[in-house]
Amino acid sequence: MKSIWAVVPAAGSGRRLGGEIPKQYREIAGAPLMEHTLQALLASPDVRGIVVALDPSDRRADAINSLADVRVQTVAGGAERAHSVLAGLDLLAEDASDEDWVLVHDAARPCLPLKSLTALIDCARAEGEGAILAAPVSDTLKQVDDSAKVTRTVDRSVLWRAQTPQLFPLIKLRRALRQCLEEIGDVTDEAMAMEWAGETVHVVEGPPSNIKVTVEADLAYVDMMLRAEREPLT
Ligand code: CTP
Ligand code: MG
Repeated sequence: MKSIWAVVPAAGSGRRLGGEIPKQYREIAGAPLMEHTLQALLASPDVRGIVVALDPSDRRADAINSLADVRVQTVAGGAERAHSVLAGLDLLAEDASDEDWVLVHDAARPCLPLKSLTALIDCARAEGEGAILAAPVSDTLKQVDDSAKVTRTVDRSVLWRAQTPQLFPLIKLRRALRQCLEEIGDVTDEAMAMEWAGETVHVVEGPPSNIKVTVEADLAYVDMMLRAEREPLT
């Protein structure tokens, strides 16, 4: 692992959250949501540079201070998240070395602790294989049929919810993501493409607060978490 880069997909329109402003630009804890996310990555000395995929028609990005950081570049995103990630990987591939790694992290996950980011990097370094942050499932899980009747209780001890960042060798991820998109079409995270390519993916436990802001209630939750982090309760 020579250098570690980051790709941050931030070109979505936030349909499920609604409202006029895409969620990555919504103000939380005193700054646009994406600002918290970029600061969380910039806090790590292991991250050499970040490529942020943006919707080029959106001028709101001009107000994001972190986008002016010397370690940050931008690229035009695509129709789906995976296309935006691929655009970032393509840009990095122009200059990166064959041994470089990349971590992909959703712009919509602003509560990433440095401790978790470091634990993820340490795991990938130690194993020499890809790794993702993920959280164990705590609810009892039911499988249901077409008429919404429970057919069985699923063993939750083997189930984890995938989070980001997800850290992989740059060249392998780029190839896997491109091929997986061509053959399957719908790729919801980077690990899925790597699994499909037959690669091992390790999980590192991420905090429950590392949520992807998706619906309105999530905004209030991350606002509270980010403020609490800044002013720890004594
Ligand atoms: N994303 C992206 N390019 C897209 C779609 C999504 O870069 N074409 C980014 C989003 O900006 C977000 C991350 O991928 O940071 C996770 O996607 P999601 O939570 O689904 O965001 P949206 O697609 O914006 O929201 P929705 O699905 O509700 O429209
Ligand atoms: Mg989406």
